[in-house]
Amino acid sequence: METPDVHGADGLLGEVEEAEADLRSAASRDLEGTASFEAIVAADQKIEPRDVMPEAYRKGLIRQIAQHAHSEIIGMQPEGNWITRAPSLRRKAILLAKVQDEAGHGLYLYAAAETLGVTRDELTEALLNGRQKYSSIFNYPTLTWADMGAIGWLVDGAAIVNQVPLCRCSYGPYARAMIRVCKEESFHQRQGYQSLYVLANGSPAQRAMAQDAVDRWWYPSLAMFGPPDTESTHSAQSMEWKIKRFSNDDLRQRFVDMCVPQAEILGLTLPDPDLRWNEERGHYDFTQPDFEELMRVVKGDGPCNRQRMTHRRRAHSDGAWVREAAQAYAEKARAAKGASREEVMA
Ligand SMILES: [Fe+2]
Ligand SMILES: [Fe+2]
Repeated sequence: METPDVHGADGLLGEVEEAEADLRSAASRDLEGTASFEAIVAADQKIEPRDVMPEAYRKGLIRQIAQHAHSEIIGMQPEGNWITRAPSLRRKAILLAKVQDEAGHGLYLYAAAETLGVTRDELTEALLNGRQKYSSIFNYPTLTWADMGAIGWLVDGAAIVNQVPLCRCSYGPYARAMIRVCKEESFHQRQGYQSLYVLANGSPAQRAMAQDAVDRWWYPSLAMFGPPDTESTHSAQSMEWKIKRFSNDDLRQRFVDMCVPQAEILGLTLPDPDLRWNEERGHYDFTQPDFEELMRVVKGDGPCNRQRMTHRRRAHSDGAWVREAAQAYAEKARAAKGASREEVMA
């Protein structure tokens, strides 16, 4: 079956490519080597790990990048749930590749956070003891196969809308990680959309399953953009430091405007009776997600919070022997290298 491409996604990918070109030119920094933090940010060049930076900038970035990394890793669970039940070999291969990409995203992001002077162990510990969070979206269950399509289309779609502006973030290692992540997210969104399109054009039962998945994932996806601007605690400073480029509400609106025509092509309904084009604003009016529910889920009271963390803790302790073996091997290799150097010297 011919599937129409995801309408509007090309624009986002174009933005990623422009950001990549700008990033390359920012790398050949033309400011003096001693330029101040403020001057580098004002000139739209990149702050690198070697640069002096305000402590609050460093801490804020660690918090944000760590939360992002944890989300990628925890985000493997809802979809991992369906790998063994994928309806065909092709779908299984695609889903495996997608979930594996998310592991890769987690690794780039942990590495980016480490450049700010925090260790991977500290970050893992902060996730396991609940000091750091992950995106609340992953605390919702994946009930049917159609959820794989809805997650790709909506959850990865919301992730791209959020992350494309981060390709221009003032911190070099984060911006560079985001470019690669966004290119892969675009594939995730396309595969989800294509899968949902096939279901929406399938049997009445498949169609109903696709609609049900969209009904359940729509509002949690809108909530991924965070609290409304009036209640967002980190926004103003983040904008000033050019970490964040658009407000939560602006990004949410952009996402809604992108999804409505896509839903029309799918022939599925977005579960919002008040969704309509507003000629005057040039945007769709829509019902906001339930922000109280968002805060409840963030605080640990979502349908799957406990399950996700239990699983993550078990994976961490099951993997202890691998970390210990790798450490022992590295020490042995180091000792051997030291010994051979001594021989050369003697
Ligand atoms: Fe990802
Ligand atoms: Fe993704």
